Amino acid sequence: MGTPSRRAVLGGAAGVGLGALATQAAATTPGRFSGKVVMITGATSGIGEATARAFAATGARVVFCGRRANLGREIERSIRAAGGEATYIQADVRVPDEVRHFVDGGVRRYGRLDIAFNNAGVQISAKLHEVTAGQWDDVTNTNARGVFLAMKYQIPHMLARGGHIIVNSSVGAIVGRPNLSTYQATKQAVQALVKSAALEYGAQGIRVNAILPGITDTAMIRPPGLDDATWQRALAYLGQENVDGLKKVATPAMIAQAVLGLAGDEFAYLTGACVPVDGGIAAGRRMLVPSL
Ligand SMILES: NC(=O)c1ccc[n+]([C@@H]2O[C@H](COP(=O)([O-])OP(=O)(O)OC[C@H]3O[C@@H](n4cnc5c(N)ncnc54)[C@H](OP(=O)(O)O)[C@@H]3O)[C@@H](O)[C@H]2O)c1
Repeated sequence: MGTPSRRAVLGGAAGVGLGALATQAAATTPGRFSGKVVMITGATSGIGEATARAFAATGARVVFCGRRANLGREIERSIRAAGGEATYIQADVRVPDEVRHFVDGGVRRYGRLDIAFNNAGVQISAKLHEVTAGQWDDVTNTNARGVFLAMKYQIPHMLARGGHIIVNSSVGAIVGRPNLSTYQATKQAVQALVKSAALEYGAQGIRVNAILPGITDTAMIRPPGLDDATWQRALAYLGQENVDGLKKVATPAMIAQAVLGLAGDEFAYLTGACVPVDGGIAAGRRMLVPSL
């Protein structure tokens, strides 16, 4: 075989580019996750809900938790009404027995566990010296210990046949932001869990990665009592002022698409990675969200 021609090399490169585009388009293609069992913590609203709906629309069987049973049951009903398969199990990720009940119950319901998206989280916004020890415990118990507990009970179900765990961290873990020290600390902590677990379980075919969303339009960042029109104006401002790259805030569906993309076989060689999906915030130098 001779040296490949310049045209063949360029053609190959173009092929890679088109392949990547095809992968993107395929992330939410119906049937893409058919037969897979996906477990999501905190899918009663926001990014978790969007991800549960997106996985279910691609044929996955989805088991999800959250504390608000009325919302959980409503989302389960609406996914099924759309032809998908989902089961809501009430669980508080701060409580070990509830997390174990959720994980084991999900596996009993669908017979296996292929993909876990450990997403449940809360945010507190206050200056460090004003955060009480109780608030610190609550946020860390949810965002860091909750992820630890989910992984602790999920991994045994993946040891025999492999699997993929994706943790929802935040771009805030790698970019400082005033008034969010407690939250950011928890999001940095889960990145350490992800990297070490990826090394511990790679030989068993378990991949562990984190996604780092940027500012996303969910209840977590929306001040209570704001009307829709004011909120839309605030979002446009937040995007313009704080998202250095794309100049807009993400929708939950955008983050869900990224999770499905990462979960796919195209990223079979990705593990121990913390992937920003943030419109370019991490690439910039600042992230200052003025109080609204
Ligand atoms: N929005 C953003 O700008 C942004 C940016 C980066 C990362 N994130 C991360 O994305 C994740 C989802 O947040 P979101 O923005 O989608 O906000 P959200 O709409 O408030 O969703 C948070 C979800 O977590 C669940 N949750 C909270 N505490 C829980 C607990 N103790 N046990 C079980 N579930 C619990 C909530 O369900 P229940 O209340 O029903 O329990 C809800 O389903 C969080 O980890 C957050 O840190 C968000």
